[in-house]
Amino acid sequence: MSASEHGGTPAVSRLNARIIGICIAAAVGGFLFGFDTAVINGAVDALAGEFDLGAGLKGFAVSSALIGCAIGAWFAGPVANRLGRVPVMLIAAALFLVSAIGSGLAFGVFDLIIWRVIGGFGVGAASVIAPAYIAEVSPAHVRGRLGSLQQLAIVTGIFVALLSDALLANTAGGAAEELWFGQAAWRWMFMAEAIPAVLYGVFALRLPESPRFLVARGEYDKASAVLHDFTGVVEVNLKIEEIKKTLNQEKKESLSDLRGHRLGLKPIVWVGILLSVFQQFVGINVIFYYSTTLWRSVGFGESDALTITVITSVTNILVTIVAILLVDRVGRRPMLLVGSVGMALSLGLMAVAFSFATIVEAGDGTTTAELAAPWSTVALVAANVFVVAFGATWGPLVWVLLGEIFPNSIRAGALAVAAAAQWAANFLVSTTFPALADVGLTLAYGIYAVMAVLSFFFVWFKIPETKGRELEDMDENLVVRRGRIQTT
Ligand code: GLC
Repeated sequence: MSASEHGGTPAVSRLNARIIGICIAAAVGGFLFGFDTAVINGAVDALAGEFDLGAGLKGFAVSSALIGCAIGAWFAGPVANRLGRVPVMLIAAALFLVSAIGSGLAFGVFDLIIWRVIGGFGVGAASVIAPAYIAEVSPAHVRGRLGSLQQLAIVTGIFVALLSDALLANTAGGAAEELWFGQAAWRWMFMAEAIPAVLYGVFALRLPESPRFLVARGEYDKASAVLHDFTGVVEVNLKIEEIKKTLNQEKKESLSDLRGHRLGLKPIVWVGILLSVFQQFVGINVIFYYSTTLWRSVGFGESDALTITVITSVTNILVTIVAILLVDRVGRRPMLLVGSVGMALSLGLMAVAFSFATIVEAGDGTTTAELAAPWSTVALVAANVFVVAFGATWGPLVWVLLGEIFPNSIRAGALAVAAAAQWAANFLVSTTFPALADVGLTLAYGIYAVMAVLSFFFVWFKIPETKGRELEDMDENLVVRRGRIQTT
């Protein structure tokens, strides 16, 4: 059934300014997600120097936050079902604040890792609650656009973190140098996150609770008010009846609701998990987390490498805007399919380019792969095409789809499981990259290219087109055959 066949939404002809405000406020969690994962880039070398870290501990200081993200995502679902969507945002804001101050004042690497893991809990929780909340308060016909705001916030967060790291390091004359109050610049990089964390909490306090959650709690009057005042639904009672029908009124939602007859989980939960895993297995975060290594191997000096990283993150912001403009017109499936093709070709090209690399050994025993022209140019262009292909499609759309493919009765829990899988996959890719790169970058990018090819077939056979559909139409037993939704 399309949106126009439903009672609630047809009268919504133009985008309600309030709803955009709500979604931006919810997406601030995405900004913190991006900021928190990228902020360590500028700080890691200085803190490794101050705490005298070897390569292993240094790597763990970076990746430990991802374990926190997976745990935070996992618990966000049950908490969102019990306490509500807004309280999860408040808890996440508090975790971000504590982590920012704790990491900034850390005594040694062990408490730093604990503070980073606590920040990770916040990132994981924010990564679940923003798509769930945005999908639940958005009118169907613009849900893709509003959902993509989360990715816009994530990539803006990455950019601002890189910029603030660079500004703080420049002001101090180096990340390890003293800045204000006798504290080194790298400490201020972490503490800067306290500002968006407080803003997130303040915004969250002003947000209305999700109408789908209110209906699940039996608070119909409040749900009517939110549906009417914020989402512009006219036939409020009809909408509430529709939502009620999709909820399991007999019992509270729990993780056991995700179980299915085959393969342990409901097919749609597997679809969510695989979407998440493919989004990470194409290696996007290798580009963001290890960018300096990549750009140096194509012949740039260290400061140029940082500049290119900043340019790449601006590109990522711009292409997200393209996605926002297209998603509710073109639909999710065509965009993902085009993205998979673009990613497979660009990653394949990178794999080919790096097969022409020469391995150069530095004085300290570390090796780098160096490329000469024309392959250095090919790799540089291909890497940027990859960022464009990902950023305009898989980056935002996976978050949009995770918000909307699950039925009301299992959304928060299923989204939490899918997001936890995404963080685990992110951890796996980022921790295995250095070892893979040692064997050869051709192997690393070759594997990511194969994943991009597989992602095409996964979308072709398994991803439903959700453009314009009501959340109330997402059935629990939904299966997809070639993109067409069928119920078992
Ligand atoms: C998506 C991914 C995230 C990645 C970002 C980069 O949000 O989920 O892991 O860092 O895109 O654009």
